[in-house]
Parts: sequence; C-alpha cells; structure tokens
Amino acid sequence: MVFSKNILVTGGAGFIGSNTVEKLIKDNEVTVIDNLSNVPDDRFIRNFQKMKNFHFLKRDLNELSTFQDLPRFDIIIHLAAHSDVRGGFEHPEVDFKQNVEATRNLLEFMRKKEIKELIFSSTSAVYGEASVMPTPENYGPCKPISTYGATKLADEALISAYSSYYDFKASIFRFANVVGKNSTHGAIFDFIRRLKENPKNLNILGDGTQAKSYIYVSDCIDAMLFVHSKSKATDIFNLGNKGTTSIITIANSVIKGLNLSNVKITLSGGYEGRGWRGDVKKTELSTEKVAAFGWKNQFGSDAAIEEAIKQLS
Ligand SMILES: NC(=O)c1ccc[n+]([C@@H]2O[C@H](COP(=O)([O-])OP(=O)(O)OC[C@H]3O[C@@H](n4cnc5c(N)ncnc54)[C@H](O)[C@@H]3O)[C@@H](O)[C@H]2O)c1
Repeated sequence: MVFSKNILVTGGAGFIGSNTVEKLIKDNEVTVIDNLSNVPDDRFIRNFQKMKNFHFLKRDLNELSTFQDLPRFDIIIHLAAHSDVRGGFEHPEVDFKQNVEATRNLLEFMRKKEIKELIFSSTSAVYGEASVMPTPENYGPCKPISTYGATKLADEALISAYSSYYDFKASIFRFANVVGKNSTHGAIFDFIRRLKENPKNLNILGDGTQAKSYIYVSDCIDAMLFVHSKSKATDIFNLGNKGTTSIITIANSVIKGLNLSNVKITLSGGYEGRGWRGDVKKTELSTEKVAAFGWKNQFGSDAAIEEAIKQLS
C-alpha cells in the first residue's frame, strides 16, 4: 500500500494529537514526536504502535538532537505545547520554553529540510479579553492575559515570518475549548474526576459566570485538515462554535451524565471571579471565516459537551 502523505504530528501522544493520529493513520505515514511531559504515558497511541505506517519517537522538541536523524515530511501538524494555562502564573518560563523555543526549533528544522506545509494549534487565549464578540480573526490589538496566550501569539508571529522567508504554507488555528475522547485536562475532565472521588460536593473555580464556546475534538481535527487543504496561503482561522456554554451548565450536565443527584455545588470565587489568574472569563470566536470555506461542525457547543461527558465518564 502506498500512503498518500508523510506526516509529522508533534504532541501526538496527547489529547488532540492522539485523535489526529487516529484520523490520519488510515491512509498516511504518521510519525509522532512527544516527550510525554503533559500526558500520563503513551496509552492513547499504544494501539497504533504495531502498524507499520506509524512511528513513535519519545523525544523533546527542546533538544536539538531530536531533529538530527529526521527525514523530510510533507506536512507537520504542530500540537506539542505546554497546554496547562493555569500553570503559567507559577512557572511562566515553562510556557516560554515549551511553546516559543520548541516552535522555533521546529521552524528551523522545516527551513533546513524545506518542508512546505505546517498546521499549527493556536488558541482563543491570544485575544485576551476581547471587546468584540464573537471575536473575528482580524480583531486587534491582541492583548493576552496569560503567558500561555502570549507565547502562542509569539508562535504565530514566528510562523508568519518563517513562512514568508522560506515560502511555506502555514494554517494557524485559534481553537476555542476542545473537548472529547482522551482529554486529560479542562473542566469536564476535572469535574468527572472530582465527582467520582466525592459524589456529594462539587467546587467550581471562579464565580460561575465563566462562559466559553466548546468544539468537539473530531470537528476540530476535521476542520483543520479541511480548511488547510482549501486554503491557498498562510492564514489564521478561528475554530469554535456559535454561542457559549456556562461553567454551571457544564457542572449540571456532568452531574446528570454521571446519574448523580443532591450534589452541592460551591463556588470558590477565584481571582476577580476567574477560575485562576490568566483565565479569560468569556470567549466566543467568530466562525464565519471557516464557514466561508464550506466548513460546518457536526456538534454545537452544548452537544460537544454532552458527547465529551459520554466519552469521559
Ligand atoms: N485542548 C484545548 O482545549 C486546546 C485549546 C486551544 C489550543 N490548544 C492547543 O492544542 C494543542 C494540543 O492540545 P491538547 O489539549 O491535546 O494538549 P496535550 O497536553 O494533551 O498535548 C500536548 C502534547 O505535547 C507534548 N509536549 C509538550 N511539550 C513537548 C516538547 N517540548 N516536546 C515534545 N512533546 C511535547 C505533551 O507531552 C503532550 O502529549 C496544544 O498546542 C494546545 O495549546 C488546545
């Protein structure tokens, strides 16, 4: 069998990465680089290890030796990052290292190997507390309030410059909150874990008014691949859903999904009513730009949450 593309997925052992591998492995040669720093182990990709068109390299993008023996790839899907937004306040240097420095190393590898296509996972956090909602891609100035958002914005700038210098096409996707199978962080995962430990009480970080839009992981991946294939030049795209879902709605949906009753919900108040310092309380991304390519999600924001609860509980 001849596989159509030779694809590198960085962070491929993580949540979105492992779902991406599952999608691509049917008809592509897929290599994953992941240092397993944000995931428990290689459990999400173990099933692919016996396939001859799958290769897992447990390596760190911050080490230059990682790139020495790598072949040329047709496309790189760069998902590796320090995805723990909350951790940035205590350890901003980790965001800088795993997001900016790692991306710079990858871009240098692309330059040397003359790799011509990149898909990059950015985030709604680059906008900070946007005054326009739903927020379109041309909103500015972007004023992130977390080092996570700041380092992703720096990545976008680096990718833009490298793609212009060295003539490659990059599709930068600013994700809303992605939910679904293999997730190891975020509100749904956290609520399920805590309610399994204590089915009588659920403490919610923040003042409960936080409201964000959610996208199901398969929609996120399919949209990236679809839009990247249609897009002609380096560009930035939001990926999300119309409308938002409040954190209280998520808590109640998880309680219902776990068939619990009489759960006492308490609110921690947090910092300025946020879940944590750097948490943007309300986000809603405009999705008109990807819709103009003909893209439509299978799951809306609330449906994405329902499906994720089913998968994770
Ligand atoms: N999940 C979301 O809601 C969401 C929202 C917006 C953006 N994103 C972005 O999407 C991407 C994937 O997110 P995810 O939720 O799957 O996160 P994840 O933490 O599950 O996956 C990231 C993977 O990258 C790996 N990694 C981190 N640093 C590395 C390094 N230096 N070298 C090699 N591997 C390294 C980790 O071990 C992990 O497996 C990330 O870039 C994240 O910032 C995610």
